[in-house]
Amino acid sequence: MRRTIIAGNWKMHKTTAEAVAFIHEIAPLIQDRADVEVVLCAPYVALYPMRDALAGTTILLGAQDVFWKTKGAYTGQIAPGMLTDVGVSYVIVGHSEMRGRFGVPEPDFDETILRHFGETDASVNRKLKAAFEAGMTPICCVGETISERKAGQTDAIVSDQTTKALEGVPADLAARLVFAYEPVWAIGTGEVCDSDEANRVCGLIRSTVEKLYGADVAAQTRIQYGGSVKPDNAAELLAKEHIDGALVGGASLKPADLAAIVQASPK
Ligand code: PGA
Repeated sequence: MRRTIIAGNWKMHKTTAEAVAFIHEIAPLIQDRADVEVVLCAPYVALYPMRDALAGTTILLGAQDVFWKTKGAYTGQIAPGMLTDVGVSYVIVGHSEMRGRFGVPEPDFDETILRHFGETDASVNRKLKAAFEAGMTPICCVGETISERKAGQTDAIVSDQTTKALEGVPADLAARLVFAYEPVWAIGTGEVCDSDEANRVCGLIRSTVEKLYGADVAAQTRIQYGGSVKPDNAAELLAKEHIDGALVGGASLKPADLAAIVQASPK
């Protein structure tokens, strides 16, 4: 039985005070759902004060990215051990906003400038292995853009990203890994992927894992859906066979909304 995992991805939102206040507000709203794993992926600077605020709750701490080196001259980067030092147990890797794949292009802005976030399948793979090495669990995002979907490339892109993320990852870790299927066109757009289609693509990720590691591992790997998950569509998505949770952006910013999504998880 795969335990449902609901992760809030706050992106570049919330000061430390706001982050701590959020925890105090959401904790009582979800305390009856200890069956659901709830993770808050916060900006780096909020993590340390959040650790103390989370004591006595079952909510876990997550980061939004990590570098793969343990230390060194890497200005601006955060090492895996720095995250575990402040109590982080989950880390998002390969988010489409890091891969330079955008659902909603900003007008008057040359997006190629942002490509210096520079995430590639190879860097995702390194980050994922480094996260495991440090004792964290990666949440690995995969998903197609709208032009790839229109060109009928969804399955090829998703299975390719999945396979490349897992290169050199042993079976016991692949079983622990969390994937997030996030169609880029559904992120932050309000346009949610149809639940049957989301389930189909999550099933494709599972069958890709099965091809690489066998059915036992594939049955354990958890796969989230992400992209405009809200309180009113969460129950339908989370009821699907291959959808084991949600990675929630916009709707994770308000405690009541995220709590409603947690409460929508199947019992
Ligand atoms: P959204 O973001 O819920 O705001 O669409 C999801 C994500 O990017 O992880």
